Amino acid sequence: MANVDFSVRDSFGTKAGVIAAAAGSAIGLGNIWRFPYVAGQNGGGAFLLIYLGFILVIGFPVMLAELSIGRRAQRNALGSFKKLAPGKPWYLVGLMGVVAAFMILAFYNTIAGWTLEYLAQAVGNGFNGKSSDELKNSFEAFQSGTFRPVFWQLIFILLTGYIVFLGVKKGIEKYTKILMPLLVVLVVIIAIKSLTLPGAREGLVFLFKPDFSKISWTVILDALGQATFSLSIGMGTLITYGSYIQKNNNLANTVLKVTAADTAIAVLAGIMIFPAVFAFNIDPAEGFGLVFIVLPGIFEQMAGGYFFGILFFILLAIAALTSTVSIFEVIVAYFSEELNMTRHRATIIGSVALAFVGVFATLSFGPLSGALIFDKTIFEWFEYLSVNIMLPLGAIFLVLFVGWYLGRKNVEDELTSGGSLKVKLLGLFMIVVKFIAPIAITLVFIYGLGLIGKKDKKKSEPVADEQAFANNTFLPGRTIELFT
Ligand code: TRP
Repeated sequence: MANVDFSVRDSFGTKAGVIAAAAGSAIGLGNIWRFPYVAGQNGGGAFLLIYLGFILVIGFPVMLAELSIGRRAQRNALGSFKKLAPGKPWYLVGLMGVVAAFMILAFYNTIAGWTLEYLAQAVGNGFNGKSSDELKNSFEAFQSGTFRPVFWQLIFILLTGYIVFLGVKKGIEKYTKILMPLLVVLVVIIAIKSLTLPGAREGLVFLFKPDFSKISWTVILDALGQATFSLSIGMGTLITYGSYIQKNNNLANTVLKVTAADTAIAVLAGIMIFPAVFAFNIDPAEGFGLVFIVLPGIFEQMAGGYFFGILFFILLAIAALTSTVSIFEVIVAYFSEELNMTRHRATIIGSVALAFVGVFATLSFGPLSGALIFDKTIFEWFEYLSVNIMLPLGAIFLVLFVGWYLGRKNVEDELTSGGSLKVKLLGLFMIVVKFIAPIAITLVFIYGLGLIGKKDKKKSEPVADEQAFANNTFLPGRTIELFT
């Protein structure tokens, strides 16, 4: 480890800072916006069960693998592979990560922009007195617009760029430590309100009672994609953050805490959203807008809802910001270390490029909603390609790299901080990264994409339609056939 030079690299100051930064990356729109909407489209309970399984068997080991690579190499996502495996094609995994970072940010900033719009509406008391139909209409009117969604997206890109420019330590560490716990408290308060609404029981049944008939390979692939997305793994964010972690930090411990916090918040978000979904008679398979339609409805009915609404959207925007910062850092670290740009220049070029690409994602809900490529909008392609394809693919290569290329001795050295820490279950970890995780992801991938075997039905719309038919009890049982 002679070539580690802390003097030129920014690093996280304290142990709590490391956890805060990694948790800040993991906790974001993935938990509050994406988990409920994807779980809703995939039938609820069964999806949750598979999701939790993936967190345990794949999420945990991949996160540990990724942090280990970064800390060992002390470089950006691409440079880490170049350094640890010089002259080998492994760096392509890092390159895919940089591309994935662009794609994720392109669609993520759209939704992050929505949170700012909703913050503005909350401040203007905009939810007051509105029925859930009216809330839905006003969401759709906003989302399909041009100026406002783009405006907020650009504001978000600027905020992200500004914090990344300040640097990892100053920019990220201090916010997360206080604000993420506050977000949890607020989610719990809102969940309690949601649970008192009439119809809450149905929501809990939907979320927690697995209906195994809903499981298909595409549901499983969605769960895998969501698990990787929510934990920020598979594309080098955690390689990059790992490179800022000091040598004496216990990585396994950090991973345990971050994974637990991230998962708990996703489940809490489900408990907050689904009771209200059923209370307000909203289709759980509503899609992208689900939480933006449901949450204002809860605030509208809640004592102190005006205040809680504002606070919630502030915290959600900040949670999103600590995530976008972690993704953007992948790009900026790559530009500055591999392409020899100054941090300043890297930030500006990256932001401009993102604004350009991202606008297409945002307009996919409005003027470009008809620009379909094989049935998907531009937004949906960015989301699908990055979350369901690139992240699982990245995860396969990351574990293979750690299992087969780095090997047990290096891994042991990294995880025990050169022998000074005790680490349990190392043998199990090696088996998981060498065999279990790569095989499991590959199988899900192959079947989920329909590369082998029969491609199974669904994606968002058909499920939504089935649900709508089923809800109207319109020839239940037979309706399904219409869509197969
Ligand atoms: N996990 C974050 C969320 O849930 C998003 C995110 C940050 C991410 N960094 C990432 C997703 C890296 C994939 C890869 O909102």
